[in-house]
Amino acid sequence: MALFLVACAAYVGWDRDVGQADPPSGQDAPSLTLRGLMPGNVRIGAAADGALLDADPRYRATLAADFNAITAENAMKWANLEPTPGAYDWTASDRLISFAQENGQAVYGHTLVWHSSVPPWVSEEWSAERLRAALRQHVVTTVTRYRGQVWAWDVVNEVIAEDGSLRDSMWLRRLGPSYIADAFRWAHEADPDARLFINEYGVEGRTKKANGLFKLVRGLRADGVPVHGVGFQAHLRLDAVPEDPIGNMRRFAALGVSVAVTELDVRLALPAKPEMLLDQALLYQHMLRACLAVSTCESFTVWGFTDASSWISAHYPGYGAACLYDKDMRAKPARDLLLHELRTHADETPS
Ligand code: XIL
Repeated sequence: MALFLVACAAYVGWDRDVGQADPPSGQDAPSLTLRGLMPGNVRIGAAADGALLDADPRYRATLAADFNAITAENAMKWANLEPTPGAYDWTASDRLISFAQENGQAVYGHTLVWHSSVPPWVSEEWSAERLRAALRQHVVTTVTRYRGQVWAWDVVNEVIAEDGSLRDSMWLRRLGPSYIADAFRWAHEADPDARLFINEYGVEGRTKKANGLFKLVRGLRADGVPVHGVGFQAHLRLDAVPEDPIGNMRRFAALGVSVAVTELDVRLALPAKPEMLLDQALLYQHMLRACLAVSTCESFTVWGFTDASSWISAHYPGYGAACLYDKDMRAKPARDLLLHELRTHADETPS
């Protein structure tokens, strides 16, 4: 813990001493980066795209140095890919793939079927047949485009309601529950080698929603649907710490699926105080420990790595400071504690 305390003290000091801490770069020794310390069987990812990828060299350097996987934060969502019917715009997603390839990173595709980010020209008034055909077309077109370049897809995203039942969405209303199995089968046909995930929030601990997801995945597996993994988004806050994430993830793993932490961030009520940053660090560590404790945890991904481009402030007014790096790209205690955790894990794991 000594390193952590030093790191925290340094962080608090940096507030008054802007510009002293360099973000990691491609030149850093692996022992100084998250990517360098992550066990070989677990990817460490960050959601990215957007303006900073083009505009900010420090952003690119940190993304490349600390992470060996990238999730498309928005670039692969349907509304962005196909703003007008039939006219796919792959510019942003191709850009992300090129960046990842240049930097030896895997790409996690996000997300094929969701109640949100549906193009405005797709209408619930359509016949079920037409709607299903449009959804299928989208899944097949997108997965085929990136066949062999995307290691895993969030095939369906956020399909469970708080009480554990299926979410009331256009897809459920018009197509019935079978749209979920269909989407997995379409994606599997389009790229048989891609790992196919079901992704959800509010399921990291032992919640009703997690129980509902568990039943759904168990049923899909029993029916032979190609579901390979369960993604735990983990958009967390300090006053709602997930209960027993290790036990929870293990029960999913026991169904024969991989698990992954897919969208971790820990939002703070602003203004963030130093002690809140320490609690935030502990929560990041809590989730990393959970992933490392489950043998089939395949990846650990943060939803944005810098407060300069996190989705939180736009979506949760009054909250922010959710990421591993601050808005000036200085490492926060959370990033230092993850490094510490990875070092400890390496020391404790027989090689
Ligand atoms: C968010 C993006 O981060 C924002 O930029 C966008 O405006 C809305 O979507 N769960 C998900 C992600 O699965 O796709 C969401 O991403 C965050 C919550």
